[in-house]
Amino acid sequence: MKKSADWWRQAAIYQIYPRSFKDSDGDGLGDIKGITSKVDYLKSLSLDAVWLSPFYPSALADGGYDVADYRNVDPRLGTLKDFDKMVKALHDADISVFVDIVPNHSSDQHAWFQEALKSPSGSKARDRYIFRDGRGKNGELPPSDEISHFAPSAWTRTKNPDGTPGQWYMHLFAPEQPDFNWDNREVQLDFLKTLRFWADRGVDGFRVDVAHALKKDFKRLHIAKKNMSGFEIVQNGTDILFDRNDVHEIYREWRKVFNEYDPPRVAVAEAYVQAKRRMLYARPDELGQAFNFDLLGADFDAAKFKKTITDNLRLAKSEGSSSTWVLDNHDRVRHATRYGLPKGTNLIQWLLSDGKSAKLDRKLGAARANAATMLLLSLPGCTYLYQGEELGLFEVEDIPQQDLQDPTWFRNVVPQMVKGKVSGLALIHTEKGRDGCRVPLPWESRKKSFGFGKEKSHLPQPEWFKDFAVDRQDGVKGSTLTLYRSALALRKQLQTSEELRWIATSSNQVLHFTRPNGWQCITNFNGKPYKLPKGEILLSSAPIVAGKLPANTTVWLKA
Ligand code: NOJ
Repeated sequence: MKKSADWWRQAAIYQIYPRSFKDSDGDGLGDIKGITSKVDYLKSLSLDAVWLSPFYPSALADGGYDVADYRNVDPRLGTLKDFDKMVKALHDADISVFVDIVPNHSSDQHAWFQEALKSPSGSKARDRYIFRDGRGKNGELPPSDEISHFAPSAWTRTKNPDGTPGQWYMHLFAPEQPDFNWDNREVQLDFLKTLRFWADRGVDGFRVDVAHALKKDFKRLHIAKKNMSGFEIVQNGTDILFDRNDVHEIYREWRKVFNEYDPPRVAVAEAYVQAKRRMLYARPDELGQAFNFDLLGADFDAAKFKKTITDNLRLAKSEGSSSTWVLDNHDRVRHATRYGLPKGTNLIQWLLSDGKSAKLDRKLGAARANAATMLLLSLPGCTYLYQGEELGLFEVEDIPQQDLQDPTWFRNVVPQMVKGKVSGLALIHTEKGRDGCRVPLPWESRKKSFGFGKEKSHLPQPEWFKDFAVDRQDGVKGSTLTLYRSALALRKQLQTSEELRWIATSSNQVLHFTRPNGWQCITNFNGKPYKLPKGEILLSSAPIVAGKLPANTTVWLKA
């Protein structure tokens, strides 16, 4: 069925991390055919769309966000033909498809970067990336002090064909992810070609990776300082590297391409910038939508949720977009874990200690996670879900060091010191990274790799995963999967115009709002059992006891 032009405004979109979703050929990596084999499962979640993290050819220096060829499928994951079949199967199930576009950087294996390395300074091939001479007498110092998101420097020195040290190139992420020069028209045009390539294959939408970083001020690049966190960015669009005003020209050109299609293609910006500026990417003549990550770092706290909801609905409206809601993605500790740890737990330290530095209360985490999800699903706007949250998965906090893959782990290291001196070659890792939320999904509790593939999975699955497997939860009353299925199905019927009205409650721990059609949502964050008002109970994230809503629970009512 053809969708209307604004189908995305209040959609439920499920993120698939393809290498960890379902492995059809037993090589340990999830693949495209694996996704196709699970279309019925996706349909059972009443989703409007799925978004696929990168599945392109990649050396996997950053989980596929190092793309070697933007218009192809990694042969380990399948072929373009497999991709087309997957799109058809999803469309037949009325599920739209988003792909991930990674425009800030390519892989160092990309043909253009390889060509650039072989080409001289100042060449056309080098101009597609950001090559600069180093500072210092012999160019031995990086062109600026900028550090990479994965630490340490954002610059790597190249070797000339004769083996002598050469120019440096910029990479806001790993050295295997060289940044493109977005002032270069060839780069701009090539991405338009990529967008059309996927849109012509039936892709309905695009998630745009680090959308705020593409344009750089090359005149001031040499003075770029350690400027990693989005919060340090100058908020007026004149920062050297991030969220520059001129980045929007790119998306206005993309929008013209999206609008060549019927229905117009959809896009969502990943832009870690201040909420107000984030919405600039969501303007109707640009990407249309931007991720709101405000709840990713927030406690399960009534006041925080209320403020986040109010602010984001207002901001989205002011730019003509709809708000987005996100609790989980492939970059963050899963929300069932975040909510089950003592308030203030340092997640980086907790992961480094393999989960020993603070005690995880799984029961509490699960209850809060389900309550928060139900709250989000009843809000106006678009909810992005991440694979595995519908199973109530927790973060895998104790992946053995030798199995870790994330560049965050490999690159955040300091030398070991003994008596004030650097000791030998031993390095201390200071961040474990994001592998714990990327462990392959458990489908069948009794099978090897819990039904993910045949024998192995590319990241090890813990034994406790079997209790969360789909076959353990399918049709089981009270399971997280059953709750997600019921909530998503109901939401599809109940979703209404994009308004919300708060209703006063007698407790500051309880949030209550109604939508224009009488659909009400009440969440008791942390208070005493809360007496429910009159109304038909549609669904609750945990049992209602004697007409009262327990703490850490959400209920949907119809007035
Ligand atoms: C954001 C992606 O979500 C993350 O996984 C990736 O490492 C960086 N962008 C770099 O592409």
